[in-house]
Amino acid sequence: MLELRQLKSHNKHLGARMVFQGQHILSIDQLDRDAVERILQVADLMHPYVAREKSCRVLEGAVLANMFFEPSTRTRISFGTAFNLLGGHVRETVGMSTSSLAKGESLYDTAQVLSTYADVVAMRHPQAGSVAEFAAGSKIPVINGGDGPNEHPTQALLDIYTIFNELNRIHKGTENLRIAMMGDLKNGRTVHSLTQLLCVFPNVEFTFVAPNALAMPEKVLAVCDKYNHRVTITDSLDDGLHSQDVIYQTRIQEERFETQREADLYRGKYRLNQSGYEKFCDPNTIIMHPLPRDSRPEANELSDDMNDNPNLAIFRQAYFGVKVRMALFALVLGVEDKLSQFETPVAWHSNKI
Ligand code: CP
Repeated sequence: MLELRQLKSHNKHLGARMVFQGQHILSIDQLDRDAVERILQVADLMHPYVAREKSCRVLEGAVLANMFFEPSTRTRISFGTAFNLLGGHVRETVGMSTSSLAKGESLYDTAQVLSTYADVVAMRHPQAGSVAEFAAGSKIPVINGGDGPNEHPTQALLDIYTIFNELNRIHKGTENLRIAMMGDLKNGRTVHSLTQLLCVFPNVEFTFVAPNALAMPEKVLAVCDKYNHRVTITDSLDDGLHSQDVIYQTRIQEERFETQREADLYRGKYRLNQSGYEKFCDPNTIIMHPLPRDSRPEANELSDDMNDNPNLAIFRQAYFGVKVRMALFALVLGVEDKLSQFETPVAWHSNKI
């Protein structure tokens, strides 16, 4: 495994010139505010296709290699759905044991081979830095669908898309955002990526709520510091919940702990339910979670009794993942300005909103 430090040099910065075509999307540190806003703009263009009002064949003939070496529901299916909704085909590997990585093949060799089969790769892998290592051997764009506890950049992009949409829904501005992230901030790659992404916007106030052993890593705090954002760190749930625009709950990432016993020490410690929401949160506080939420009784980290709370945004959040991933495919394959040329009306009925 290459050192993460070395791999940073493979991360092409996607900034003001916004040269997305042919590029890998590996890390939030590639994206500045212009690049993020461009992705969100293109995601908005995807609405008619995601809502099944129109169909689009702009990626007719293109192939996505969807390589998932760790469990996933949302990221894997939404990458596949996104590619299909743009007219492309999807080929998948699910789990390490069904791939030749299990026979000792290197990520480099796998990348060289897949570059001849597909036009773009989406990959999830349990080791930090692995997707970037794969990308270093790839001739086609690679999109990081989560590399161990390190990063989950496409989740951060759909999270920020959700935050802007939710603030708009409740008629709040997007400036001066106050967000509390809570749970396993040490191992939760979604909060690492989202924090770094929010840092490129002005005046964000972060509250990180976690037990000391699961605190936000120093390297992420250093990014907040670099951008001069205000940060509060607490292990008190009650302190963390009030005066926020967004509460972002995360799961105890039991798969990242040495033993189940260690994970059990923290399970169920940071629970949010409807009575806690009413007691501690400001009216209209938006509740987010990257999902899956751990709904087993011993965890019950985001209680089912919040399901009817109109500010529980978790399923809208997952829904937006398709739009954002469609935008990334369109951008890296250079078709973002050609969508309307390849659209047709939809003849069949769908219950999509
Ligand atoms: N949010 C997320 O990454 O979900 P999955 O693990 O189901 O893909």
